[in-house]
Order: sequence, then structure tokens, then C-alpha cells
Amino acid sequence: MMILNDKVAVVTGASQGLGRGFAEILLENGAKVALLDLNETLGREVQAHFNEIYGSDRTQFYPCDVASDELFKDAFQKVLHKFGRVDVFCNNAGILNEKDWEKTVSINLSGVVRGTYLAMDHMKKQNGGQGGVIINVASMAGLGPLPGAPIYTATKHGVVGFSRALAETSNIADYGVRINALCPGFVRTALLNSFQTDEKAMLESIMEKAKFLEVEDVAKAFLLLVKDESLNGAVLVVASAGTAFMSFPTELPRTPVTL
Ligand SMILES: NC(=O)c1ccc[n+]([C@@H]2O[C@H](COP(=O)([O-])OP(=O)(O)OC[C@H]3O[C@@H](n4cnc5c(N)ncnc54)[C@H](O)[C@@H]3O)[C@@H](O)[C@H]2O)c1
Repeated sequence: MMILNDKVAVVTGASQGLGRGFAEILLENGAKVALLDLNETLGREVQAHFNEIYGSDRTQFYPCDVASDELFKDAFQKVLHKFGRVDVFCNNAGILNEKDWEKTVSINLSGVVRGTYLAMDHMKKQNGGQGGVIINVASMAGLGPLPGAPIYTATKHGVVGFSRALAETSNIADYGVRINALCPGFVRTALLNSFQTDEKAMLESIMEKAKFLEVEDVAKAFLLLVKDESLNGAVLVVASAGTAFMSFPTELPRTPVTL
């Protein structure tokens, strides 16, 4: 099990919701945490709150837009300048906006790719790094369709596929970096209050029937993916029915057709 005392973690989208929960469980377990988010007002409030509970030098907020190469790199450099290293990197920032679908792709998928490559370049042993772990936040919509949200579904499937493929590369090339994906079910956060889609009624009726998770439950599953050093390429589902690793068949089930 990875010991988090004095390790340095980065969490994107950490000003509220799941990201804030992931940051807090890392702090509870001894890590120092850089909070990256677009929302500066909330981010600074969270930093002040965490400083009171966990000590004044263990949390630092950095404004950051994961949709921008330049701003993301800049924030990452600032984290390295302050803390000297990064051991845990959580790509969590995400939105559910089907109307501005290109923005959704550039945050939910391209943002995860940007963050993963930034972290990987810093962590991998071949670059003189000390290894580390990257957790990419997908969704149950990364494993099956969320009706009314095809773009969100596509980005989250992308996050799962990207993480699994890169985890194999990292293993084969012996980078010393683990990459795992987390797939939570519904959690009551700002994301679900602000989603943009022409199929609002469809999504709302799905949510009416759904059982919601608590941020704390998802954070515990997140911590498992961070700490268990045997996990690379793992996809962990957190659902109201329980938490479980996805197993993917090496040969996909097919229904043959005669042409
Ligand atoms: N809430 C759910 O039901 C649920 C379920 C499964 C997966 N997820 C995923 O969990 C992650 C966190 O979602 P949440 O529910 O906590 O949402 P949230 O809206 O509560 O928090 C998301 C945070 O990301 C930040 N953010 C948005 N765009 C950004 C950008 N371009 N750069 C930096 N930060 C940005 C926001 O300011 C916000 O603080 C997302 O990837 C989401 O898709 C959420």
C-alpha cells in the first residue's frame, strides 16, 4: 500500500463536489494537496477551510483551466515550484454540457489527456522521476450510455479507453506510473444542477429513479485506487449497489451474422 504521508497530490476540479472530497481524503491520509480549478472564489474558500483543519502549509489552490494547454502547464509548473514533486494526480474536472459539445470534449477528454501527459512526463522513471499514480475520473457513463448525454457518454468512454491503454504502455515500458479509472454513479453535485442538454426531461426522469451516492463513498473508492500498488489499468465502479472492479473479457462477446 502506498503511504501518503508527505506525498504531493494534484486534484483538478477540486473547488467543489467530488474533487473537493478527493482532496480531503488525501489530506486526511497525510498528503499535501494542490487544488486546481476554474472557480477561484470557491477554490480559495476551500483552501482556507482545509488550512484550518489540516495545517496551513498542506493545501494550495491554483486557478487553472484544463481546456487550455498553456494554463494547465503553467499551473502544474507552479505546483512543482512550491512542492518540488507530484506523486498523485487526479484528473477530475468535468462538465455535462451537450449544447456546447466541443467544450465538453475539451474539458472531459482532452483535459484528462493533458493532465495525464503532464503528470506522466514528470513521474516516469525514464525522465528521472520517482513514479506515481494517476487517477482519471470517468463515470458509469464511461461503460454504458447515459441517454440524453451522448457527448458526455463519449468523453467518459474515452477516459476509460485512454486510461486502460496507457496503463498497459506504462507497464510494458516500466515507467513506474500506475493509471486507474474511477466510474461513479450519480452524486448530487453542481454538475447535475447545471447540465445543459436539449433532452433535459429524459435526463431528469433517469435521475428521478436513480439512487444517489455520497461524495464520501466515492472518495473511499478513489483512495483504494491511489493506495493499492497492485492496481494499474483498473476500472473501479462505485454504484449504489456497491463498489466493484470491472472485468473486461479479452475476447469481446459477439453475435455472428451471415452476410
Ligand atoms: N456528479 C455525478 O453524478 C458524477 C457521476 C460520475 C462522474 N462524475 C464526474 O466527476 C467529476 C467531478 O464532477 P462533480 O460532480 O464533482 O462536478 P462539480 O460540478 O461539483 O465539480 C466540478 C469542478 O470542476 C471545475 N471545472 C469545470 N471546468 C473546468 C476546467 N475547464 N478547468 C478546471 N476546472 C474546471 C468546476 O469549477 C467545479 O469546481 C466530473 O468529471 C464528472 O463527470 C460526476
